[in-house]
Parts: sequence; structure tokens; C-alpha cells
Amino acid sequence: MQRCLRLARLGAYSAAPNPLVGAVLVHDGQVLAEGWHKVAGGPHAEVECLRVFGDGPIPEGAMLYVNLEPCSHHGRTPPCADLLIERKVKHVVIGQEDPFPAVAGRGIQKLRDAGITVTTDVLHDECRWVQRRFLTSVEKGRPYIVLKWVRSADGFLDQHPRKERVVKRISSPESDVLVHRWRTEEQAILVGSRTVVNDDPSLTVRHVEGRQPLRVVLDRDGISADESKVFDGTASTLLFNGTLRAALPVEQVLVPDDVDPIHLMLAELHKRDIRSILVEGGAELLSHFIARGLWDEARVITGEVKFTTGTRAPDLNAHLVHTEVRGTDRLELFTAHHIAGATWDR
Ligand SMILES: NC(=O)c1ccc[n+]([C@@H]2O[C@H](COP(=O)([O-])OP(=O)(O)OC[C@H]3O[C@@H](n4cnc5c(N)ncnc54)[C@H](OP(=O)(O)O)[C@@H]3O)[C@@H](O)[C@H]2O)c1
Repeated sequence: MQRCLRLARLGAYSAAPNPLVGAVLVHDGQVLAEGWHKVAGGPHAEVECLRVFGDGPIPEGAMLYVNLEPCSHHGRTPPCADLLIERKVKHVVIGQEDPFPAVAGRGIQKLRDAGITVTTDVLHDECRWVQRRFLTSVEKGRPYIVLKWVRSADGFLDQHPRKERVVKRISSPESDVLVHRWRTEEQAILVGSRTVVNDDPSLTVRHVEGRQPLRVVLDRDGISADESKVFDGTASTLLFNGTLRAALPVEQVLVPDDVDPIHLMLAELHKRDIRSILVEGGAELLSHFIARGLWDEARVITGEVKFTTGTRAPDLNAHLVHTEVRGTDRLELFTAHHIAGATWDR
């Protein structure tokens, strides 16, 4: 099952909105074949694993391991449970049940009804952690929310007053590469309006290869300039706005005065099958998520530089899961609640 999870994670940059799934066919302690789910609409992990194994008969006593319950419904591909029955797999070992309403135990039932031995809940907590984006989306009806900020050694997100145009960088180049990797793992990145005004970030993936997430901006008062990089068309942008800005060539969602912008935004992203969002600041926007208890994971990078004055980094009362030193920076991973199986998995 650990091997399944390692394979499943290979889909972290491409499989969403589908779940991360790996499958391994084992006989007499030997791996016969393995597969993972790469992209929505492509073969599921079990199908890929059996394709790699080939058309020959599957040996009596072989076991198929998979971290998520095989599907039982016709989606974009036929049901995996049917394939396992057809290929006469005798024993299937499953990490966790799939809460997706079209599956939700029916895959396991289908296998058992066909006389297949099914073992469930193997490395269940680790499986849930790897699957946290998909599970949050299905179970809570909102994207998985990752907060991220970079702070100076004395706890500031930026320096005030800005004496020069050239702003001192907080994080090291090693961390910048990591942040771009993080961007490719989520389907959307969000920033606040004052961050657009002060920093003019492009929010693109440049230091690594990978999928560009949807850029999301919350700016109800329209304080950001039309010329801001987030509106430059190099990647898709969704603007949450108070009044339509006809000059901007980006999709816009109007936020009525009496509606909470964060709830509206999360509902809109969920409607678009976006399973996760990386909130990259600034401080005020991050603190609105924290105050509402609407976050799952926070990644904090602390650099060596000291600012003395500036925008204070948000306060967090959370579970520290992991800490490491990267170049000159310290990296910390927090979760909002204790989560069994939570690790720093890359
Ligand atoms: N070091 C870092 O990691 C990092 C990262 C990003 C930014 N920064 C720094 O942070 C500074 C900007 O941060 P900031 O705190 O001044 O501004 P900000 O968070 O970028 O902008 C304020 C945000 O809060 C939103 N907001 C206001 N009221 C809200 C409510 N009731 N519910 C939900 N959202 C609400 C605003 O939306 P509306 O505009 O629609 O009201 C706006 O998007 C910049 O100078 C930048 O350099 C640092």
C-alpha cells in the first residue's frame, strides 16, 4: 500500500479534479505490475496496472493493492470493479472507501458479490492524507485550503515604509523553486487586492515544469491596475469584483455587498470542480480565512532578513506537523486540526 501511495502521488501535478490513485499487482511477494492515474479521462490506476501486466491470466493467489476503492459506475471510463471481476483477480486490498456519491462502498460490494476477497482500511490514515484535496472537496463541499506565507525572521510579511522600489527578498532561491512546485499541485492560487497593488505578482509557474493553476484575485473595490500582471492573459484569471470592469479581459464574478466574499469564492471554485486552492496572501486575506476557520494546511517560510516594521504575519494556533531547513530558510507545515497520517510528503 505504501508503494500504491507513492505511485498515487505521481498524479499530484495532473490528476485533479480526479483523486490520486496507485495500484500494484503482487504475487508471492513479487510485484507483477503497477499503475497510477495520470489525468481525468485517462485510464484509472487499476486499469493501467492490468494493462502493464498484459492479457495473460492473472496467477491464482495474486493480490491487487489500490489506495482508493475501485469505481463501480460508468464515468468517463468503464467501472474498474467490473474489470477486476472480468480479469479474475481473487483478492483486492483497498486503502480506503471512496466517498464520491457514485461509488461510496458500491465498488467494494460489487467485488464481494462476485466472490472476490476484499481487505479494506489498509494504511487508512496515510491514504486519507494523500487524498486530502479530493476528500475535502467531496466531504465538505469546498476546495482544500492551503495557506502560505513568507515571513522575515522578526515576523513581517513586508517592510514599511518602502524606501526604495527594490524590495528586499525574504526567501531563498531554493524556497522560491519549492513555492512554484506547490503552485503546480493546486488548481487555484489566490491573492488579495493590496498584494496585487504593492507587489504586482504574476502568479505563474516559472521555476519548475508543471500545470499552471487558475489565478484568483479578490478586489471588490477595483483598486488593482488594469495593467497588473495577473490580468495580462498569460494564464487564466478569475476576478472577484464589486462592479464589472469591462476593460479587463478576464472572467469576473460579482460579489454583492451583503455576501461574504470568501464563502462566495469557495462555492464558485467548488462549482468548477476545483479541489484545492493555495492562498498566497497578503496578511489581511490570510487572516480572514483563519478567523473563519476556513483553512486546512498552512506552510510558513521564515527567512533570515529582519524588517523591524511592516505588515505582521498572521497568528496561527495550529498543529505543527513538520519543520525543516532549506537553504537559509526555515519551513514549517501546520494543520488546522490534528490529522492522523499527516506528513511532509515531498
Ligand atoms: N510575505 C508574504 O508571504 C506575502 C505574501 C503576499 C503579500 N505580502 C505583502 O502583504 C501586503 C498586502 O497585504 P495586506 O494585508 O495589506 O492586503 P491583502 O491581504 O493583499 O489585501 C486585503 C484583502 O483582504 C480582503 N478583504 C477585506 N475585507 C474582507 C472580508 N471581510 N472578508 C474577506 N476578505 C476581505 C480584500 O478584499 P477586497 O479588496 O475585495 O476588499 C483584499 O483582497 C503587500 O505589501 C505584500 O507585499 C506578503
